[in-house]
Amino acid sequence: MNIIQIKDKQFAVSIPEADILREVERVAGEINRDLVGKNPLFLSVLNGSFMFTADLMKRITIPCEISFVKLASYQGIASTGKVKEVIGISEDLTDRTIVIVEDIVDTGLTMQRLLETLGTRRPKEIHIATLLLKPEKLKVDLDIEYVAMQIPNDFIVGYGLDYDGLGRNYKDIYTVVND
Ligand code: IMP
Repeated sequence: MNIIQIKDKQFAVSIPEADILREVERVAGEINRDLVGKNPLFLSVLNGSFMFTADLMKRITIPCEISFVKLASYQGIASTGKVKEVIGISEDLTDRTIVIVEDIVDTGLTMQRLLETLGTRRPKEIHIATLLLKPEKLKVDLDIEYVAMQIPNDFIVGYGLDYDGLGRNYKDIYTVVND
């Protein structure tokens, strides 16, 4: 399935699953090496990062914990710039090593909001792991240590990412072709 249609748009495979998994494996290796002995708490940002989180966590071999948060700032194909509340943090983050697990950092506003919110809970340190980064769109200064792949400024779906709620289920990443 090299071309898929979602609503008014066509998408073509741009990053096949094997390439994604190779980079996820590399990031997992870096985290295993850097955070050994710190019992990190991975905070996976739903919905988009569910597939990345599953594949990443299968490759994390150090003692760790995982939890899930939700925070939506995106509607349709363009970022609204509006940020919503972070929900679902029930853990005590005091003095913990946190790893935020995100699907994609686009403008970075979502990540900035998340960092602000988590920062008030007095963690020891916060690291960021993202599957994808669109460097051309980044508006804020973020220290993103773990990036699986950098991509151009095109809209993508698949491997957890959606277009109007659709397309999250595909195992490969697709880029819009008729934008
Ligand atoms: P930011 O706040 O602009 O960095 O946007 C981050 C959020 O926008 C991500 O968590 C995604 O949900 C969504 N997003 C950004 N780019 C894309 C894309 O190309 N496809 C699907 N969702 C995207």
